[in-house]
Amino acid sequence: MSAVSDDSLAREGGAPADWPGKLGGRFVVFDGPDGSGKSTQFRRLVGLAEAAGVTVCEVREPGGTHIGEEIRKVLLDAQHEEEAPIDLRCEMLLFMASRAQLIAQRVRPALARGELVLADRFISSTLAYQGAGGGLPVEEIIAVGKVALQECWPDLVVVFDVDAATARARMNPLLRGQEFDTDQDRMESKGDAFHRKVRQGYLDQATNDPGHYLVVDARGEEDEVYGRMCAGLAERVKQFTDKG
Ligand code: TYD
Repeated sequence: MSAVSDDSLAREGGAPADWPGKLGGRFVVFDGPDGSGKSTQFRRLVGLAEAAGVTVCEVREPGGTHIGEEIRKVLLDAQHEEEAPIDLRCEMLLFMASRAQLIAQRVRPALARGELVLADRFISSTLAYQGAGGGLPVEEIIAVGKVALQECWPDLVVVFDVDAATARARMNPLLRGQEFDTDQDRMESKGDAFHRKVRQGYLDQATNDPGHYLVVDARGEEDEVYGRMCAGLAERVKQFTDKG
């Protein structure tokens, strides 16, 4: 538990921060490699926005709708299928199908009501995992993404950036057990190599589209990361407001 309140950590120069109250009607995505700690920060931003009077529509991917949760089960089952592993394009299309339903059923209506839509993962995950990690060309993912998203691109993607060692230390022990069980060294290095590609995939997205990405250094204590995230968000929300 943090000894300092979230509100005081989000203040700017001693004054109460006003940026959380301006998040209504925006679409913000939290993303990053497994073990980046994004979900903890996600919860804290939800609290901050709600305390500022903003209604938050929280969505997670894959899933977030009945159909999406069914697709999620197929995707998770596929991870354990050794004899006939899922084809990478099939995997990408399933993530995207779940996303199309999520946008139609939850994201668009919530934005129309003026809510903050906060998504735990989105197309940035597909670009990082199936693209940079798996090797699918970015152009294919973007082409399918255009069909699925129908112009509903996020206002901002917050990427929680961590190195492989920090991510591994933070990962759920169950997940860690799955990835690094029998032959510890071989699997560990395979995990780290994949993490590096995924991480680079996120950083490349941010470099190529800096206006829509905010990279937060996610190393260190939870409160430090929270402070960095708030500082970055304050700046970006100001830009939203200036642009109207
Ligand atoms: P999940 O259990 O939701 O984990 P997390 O808390 O890290 O979000 O698992 C989602 C996994 O699916 C995660 O390893 C990232 C992966 N993923 C993709 O490979 N492509 C995608 O498009 C999405 C949304 C997720």
